[in-house]
Amino acid sequence: MDILAIESSCDETAAAVVRDGREIISSVVATQIEEHRLYGGVVPEIASRRHCESISAVVSEALEKASLKSSEVDAVAVTYAPGLIGALLVGVNYAKGLSYSLGRPLVPVHHIRGHIAANYLAHRELEPPYMCLVVSGGNSIIVMVKDYTEFELIGQTVDDAAGEAFDKSARSMGFPYPGGAFIDKAAKSGDPTKYKLPRPHTVNPYDFSFSGLKTAVINLIHNTQQRGETLDINSLAACFQKTVSEILTDKFIGAALENGCKKIALAGGVAANGGLRRTLEAAAEKNEMELFIPPVSLCGDNAAMIGCQGYYEFLAGNIAKTDLNAYATMRIDKAVF
Ligand code: KG4
Repeated sequence: MDILAIESSCDETAAAVVRDGREIISSVVATQIEEHRLYGGVVPEIASRRHCESISAVVSEALEKASLKSSEVDAVAVTYAPGLIGALLVGVNYAKGLSYSLGRPLVPVHHIRGHIAANYLAHRELEPPYMCLVVSGGNSIIVMVKDYTEFELIGQTVDDAAGEAFDKSARSMGFPYPGGAFIDKAAKSGDPTKYKLPRPHTVNPYDFSFSGLKTAVINLIHNTQQRGETLDINSLAACFQKTVSEILTDKFIGAALENGCKKIALAGGVAANGGLRRTLEAAAEKNEMELFIPPVSLCGDNAAMIGCQGYYEFLAGNIAKTDLNAYATMRIDKAVF
């Protein structure tokens, strides 16, 4: 079964063809990052306009690279939630028109379910149940993947997402948007013990809170400047990355242990972070857990992961009609359309 998948939830217009859920036939991602960088973050109105301009070309390129005509596609999958509402609506409406004109099923896909599914594309042997830590620009959750379309939320951020904390802290360190990858690079030549940063406490031990850490980074920078001292940015990046990696890993491994789960996975844009990958790998090995991590190329937003999850949503009978709407927020365990 060949699924044409479309993703437009934030600042990437993406399309892909995925065969039988697990094989990427083609994947095209048109990023808008350079334009949003001018403003230090994503400007929703600009994102929507660029999606409108790019979507036809991106879908055509994905079909061309797959050597398929649109009439040969078996279903159309699309991200419908969560994300920027104007951006989502571009993909949803395009997909609705395409599925109607082709007479093919329209499969709505929850964006975070898609991030988790990136692991199925990279690891053919991976099957539910397992526990997943999803860390991206807009979301940070620990979720039990009971089945391909059945999820139980174990923990979530009470304020900023991990990627948001990376990007906002990076901005105060003087790095361009999105700063996560810049912190990752700078951290390589820094001393991760030089600065002491706080570890937040949450009522639910498996929830996250990153806004205090972000403020601590800003205060540390201001205090250093006020004292006329030189700030060692690479070491601050290394300390920040170490603190976030340890918070995420400790909570995630703790949740897996409490739930008797020996199979775990990582997903989302922040899963590209070298420090987090290494910290989690070491903790998984120590606790004799089987860990699955997608390649860096599948961590950020892409449509292949939407095509993969779309396959399992299709098998579960989750087919939308032409009244499908987009939603800015939507719980992963209660995805409705
Ligand atoms: O998953 P994603 O592409 O978009 C959302 O669905 O939100 O994630 C984007 C986030 C940004 O915050 C970006 O800074 C972060 O992922 N990111 C990283 C790295 N690469 C991307 N954060 C830390 N280290 C990286 N290497």
